[in-house]
Amino acid sequence: MQKVDPKTLDANFFSLLSDRWALLTAADGTKCNPMTVSWGGTGILWNRPVATVYVRPQRYTYGLIEHEKYFSLSFLPEKYREVMALCGAKSGRDTDKVKECNLTVLEGEKAPCFAQAELTLVCRKLYAQSFDPACFADGTMDESFYPGKDYHRMYIGEIEAVLKG
Ligand SMILES: Cc1cc2nc3c(=O)[nH]c(=O)nc-3n(C[C@H](O)[C@H](O)[C@H](O)COP(=O)(O)O)c2cc1C
Repeated sequence: MQKVDPKTLDANFFSLLSDRWALLTAADGTKCNPMTVSWGGTGILWNRPVATVYVRPQRYTYGLIEHEKYFSLSFLPEKYREVMALCGAKSGRDTDKVKECNLTVLEGEKAPCFAQAELTLVCRKLYAQSFDPACFADGTMDESFYPGKDYHRMYIGEIEAVLKG
């Protein structure tokens, strides 16, 4: 794994997230639990490179990311499609997804990262806020995506390290 400056990346996060998906991973010290995400983004905020993810409250990951200072976003090659599907279907409450998917956790990073990833963003949490239904400018988003009122919580993290495999 090589550490690179985020400004040198030519990755297209639109297609990566929407077509290839990513693993969002936080650990509570004992349990490392990857969860598939396809909503999110990268950019600049408060003069820092940041990544944003959105987590519904019923996810096991919610408790982990809420509690932890760091999270990672891992992009795996296309051949790991089954891993991505499993991590987006099973919950860490019932399954050890790292074991089931044969993922190799890298030592020495501030959030769990995987040897199988071709690109990993290690992020330090800067800000978290749950969507407030009163703030939708277009109410159809609320109707379409939140019939159960399970509003995503947005986490913005400073990208402290970018690993290329
Ligand atoms: C392609 C795909 C994208 C997903 N994106 C998100 C997302 O951005 N946010 C979210 O909360 N759940 C998302 N999910 C659902 C979670 O990955 C799924 O509920 C997972 O089993 C939760 O795992 P956990 O309970 O171990 O945290 C997505 C699922 C798939 C298949």
